[in-house]
This record gives sequence, structure tokens and C-alpha cells, in this order.
Amino acid sequence: MHSNPVAMRYWSTVPWEPENLAKAEEYLDRIDAGAEAGNLLQWAACTPSSEALIGTVTLYSICNEHRRCEIGYMLDQACWGRGLGRSMVRLAIAHAIGALSIHKIEADADPRNLASCRMLEALGFQREGLLRERWRTGGELQDSAIYGLVATDFKP
Ligand SMILES: CC(C)(COP(=O)(O)OP(=O)(O)OC[C@H]1O[C@@H](n2cnc3c(N)ncnc32)[C@H](O)[C@@H]1OP(=O)(O)O)[C@@H](O)C(=O)NCCC(=O)NCCS
Repeated sequence: MHSNPVAMRYWSTVPWEPENLAKAEEYLDRIDAGAEAGNLLQWAACTPSSEALIGTVTLYSICNEHRRCEIGYMLDQACWGRGLGRSMVRLAIAHAIGALSIHKIEADADPRNLASCRMLEALGFQREGLLRERWRTGGELQDSAIYGLVATDFKP
């Protein structure tokens, strides 16, 4: 997924080179370190019929003092357009609000990433602002639409 330029079009980093396992290991190390520190949780998504990885959802910048976190997600392109993105992100939000007592969840999406923006809005997120030219990815400047969901906004 991280080496697919289509799926990575609006990500904050350029696509990984397909055979660059070191990059993947570095990424997994960061996930493990965040989990150990208690400020990041990532899930692998699979379908009920198979254990093959089809996506990931990540809660990060988890802040217990303010009961706040950010959310990121990536679904294999072969699975797009069937509501699976919404299903996996919904489960992570339910866990954040329920088990972790998170009150506020934020997401940063390129406003041109319509699938991501619509999915967030369908789950109850509100667009709270626009940060201009916040990312420079592969030489291209990208804006950030900042989305926020307070626990009572959630539409499971
Ligand atoms: C964002 C992502 C998880 C959405 O997953 P998905 O399963 O395809 O999304 P869904 O099928 O749940 O559809 C979400 C909504 O977007 C709409 N949508 C999907 N693709 C779209 C497109 N290309 N243009 C416009 N709308 C689109 C759907 O119709 C749906 O809207 P609706 O509920 O009003 O019908 C998936 O596209 C993805 O992984 N993209 C690459 C990684 C990425 O960009 N992550 C987010 C970084 S902020």
C-alpha cells in the first residue's frame, strides 16, 4: 500500500520503493515505539474471510490529559469504494471513545482527497479549518483540511 503511488497521492510522504524493506521495518519500529510509549495504536484490517492485510488505522498523538488524538488510515486500492474504509475507521473511533475515553479526534486530509473527506464527514467529523501549504511532499505543496470529531458527533 505504501509503495502504491495512487494510494499515496495525498499522504505526507512519497511512496516507498517497492523492495525497500528497511523503510517498512523502520515504520514498524516507530509503530512499536509509539505503542510502548502509549501515544500510538495501530490496527491491521482484514476481511472476515481472510487474514490478508487490506488496510491500517492508526490513532496517534494520543494525549490522555486532554483526551485527544489524531487518526490516520490507509486501505488497499483493490478494496476502495465498498464502504470498507468507513467500517475500519468506525471501529477505531468506537474503541477510542469507548475503551480509551477519548473526547476529541482530529484528522488532517488534503482537501482534494474527496474519498477521505467524505468518509470523515459521514462519520460525523466537521471541517474546522484549512491550513495552507502545510506539507511539501515530493516537491509538491499540499493544504491540510483539519477535521474534528467530538465524542457526541460520532455517527457509527
Ligand atoms: C480514504 C479511504 C480509506 C476511503 O476508503 P473507501 O473504502 O474507498 O471509502 P468508502 O467506500 O467508505 O467511501 C467514502 C466516501 O467517499 C466517496 N468516494 C470514494 N471515492 C471517491 C472519489 N474518488 N471521489 C469522490 N468521492 C469518493 C464515497 O462515495 C463515499 O461517500 P458516501 O458515503 O457519501 O457515498 C481510501 O480511499 C484510502 O485508503 N485512500 C488512500 C490513503 C489515504 O488517502 N488516506 C487518508 C489520508 S488523510
